[in-house]
Amino acid sequence: MISEHAVKELSFILGPEHFTTRPEDLMTFGTDATKLSFMPDAVAFPGTSEEISRVFQLANQERFPVIPRGAGSGKSGGALPVEGGLVLAMDRFNRILEIDQHNLIARVECGVITAAFQEAVEKVDLFYPPDPASIHISTLGGNVAECAGGLRAVKYGVTRDYVLGLTAVLPTGEIIRTGVETIKGVVGYDLTRLLVGSEGTLAVVTEIIVRLVPKPPYRRTMMAFFESAAAAVETSSAIIRSKIVPTALEFMDRTCIGCVDRDVGLAAPRGTGALLLIEVDGDKTLATKEAKRVGEICTRQGALEFRSASRLKDAEKLWEARRNVSESVYKLRPDKISEDIVVPRSRMAEFIGFLEDLAGTYDLPMAAYGHAGDGNIHVNILFDEKAPGQTDKAQQAVKELFTKVIEMKGTLSGEHGVGITKAPFIEMEISRPVLELMARLKKAFDPNGILNPGKIFPYKI
Ligand code: MLT
Ligand code: ZN
Repeated sequence: MISEHAVKELSFILGPEHFTTRPEDLMTFGTDATKLSFMPDAVAFPGTSEEISRVFQLANQERFPVIPRGAGSGKSGGALPVEGGLVLAMDRFNRILEIDQHNLIARVECGVITAAFQEAVEKVDLFYPPDPASIHISTLGGNVAECAGGLRAVKYGVTRDYVLGLTAVLPTGEIIRTGVETIKGVVGYDLTRLLVGSEGTLAVVTEIIVRLVPKPPYRRTMMAFFESAAAAVETSSAIIRSKIVPTALEFMDRTCIGCVDRDVGLAAPRGTGALLLIEVDGDKTLATKEAKRVGEICTRQGALEFRSASRLKDAEKLWEARRNVSESVYKLRPDKISEDIVVPRSRMAEFIGFLEDLAGTYDLPMAAYGHAGDGNIHVNILFDEKAPGQTDKAQQAVKELFTKVIEMKGTLSGEHGVGITKAPFIEMEISRPVLELMARLKKAFDPNGILNPGKIFPYKI
């Protein structure tokens, strides 16, 4: 709980128009894409790093939790106020400060929507590749907090690969700058890399310096249909093996295709059990050659049909449908657990076989889709909370899924983070001494544990 005295102080620091405790205002700040919900005690809309610093000073004196929040599109509960406290909604940090075309870098505030930033840099023929499915909603600050990946990671990498430096407010109140505004820089520990992906538990990032690349002049979308999920992922491994790295190499299983088809009309050939959605980009001649080879590989691997360029006039519609799969699968059941495991790319067919057996064992629909090119598959376990026993079954299936992934030398999360949903499982992947080292780091940043408590660690630290 935040004391009455602290409420008054917060209203003074932020200005009454940027601070609220009204229950009807608080509701929307207590939930995210997990659909879990926790009520905060108050919400602040700070406008400067200095205000956040003063909020932290007060929070340390009064010991209330402070939870930073971007757009609330997170999938592991990273922005949820699990212990109540003050949500810091970063919406007002919404300016693109500089696009430096000489050095190919940009300075941007954390509340800028990722798609808006991408459009701005593309206007001057530059390109910011990280491309989470939530680009039209999520903010760059949220992407930094979770180290968002997305559809183009297979070729271009993830958010971490583009962040050069940060301005951040430490939970102890200091405003710091990390990293560089240059392409190289090795002075001191790489705190930038530590903060990216720290899930809002070490500092509140307010400004981000990113590197940009030239906008690829040409891109081509392709789609290939297969009889089985195994055949589709085998093909994605074959494409990578042939040393072609597409911009995107996305997979959808039969369950997802059924859901998406109702929205976009894929006109999939009879007997389709899975599809690959593929994009290549770059110099037109080279990309055209790559597209041709991708087509040959798909055909050689037994694709039921391969579509490219002219037969895919609605490419943008297809990509939008892909971005919305997560929502589309709710057509099947009212509840789901969404995972984002990664396995070695060469072992995806084995993983898909395992998953089909798992769905059979637990008798629950399991939709699989995602970034086949990265070995990063979104397993969505669908169930109905109101049906007796289904929630338990879904949870047991998750445990079994994670056990297999670790056994396969994979990782529990490729892009959504640990948050609260994976905290109970983190020790399946991270050994005790490493987790304890992480806890000591957390303590060094946040001795009183006021910043985003209850996340990542399976026990109170
Ligand atoms: C995606 O790739 O669509 C996103 O990571 C979200 C998800 O569906 O789990
Ligand atoms: Zn994803």
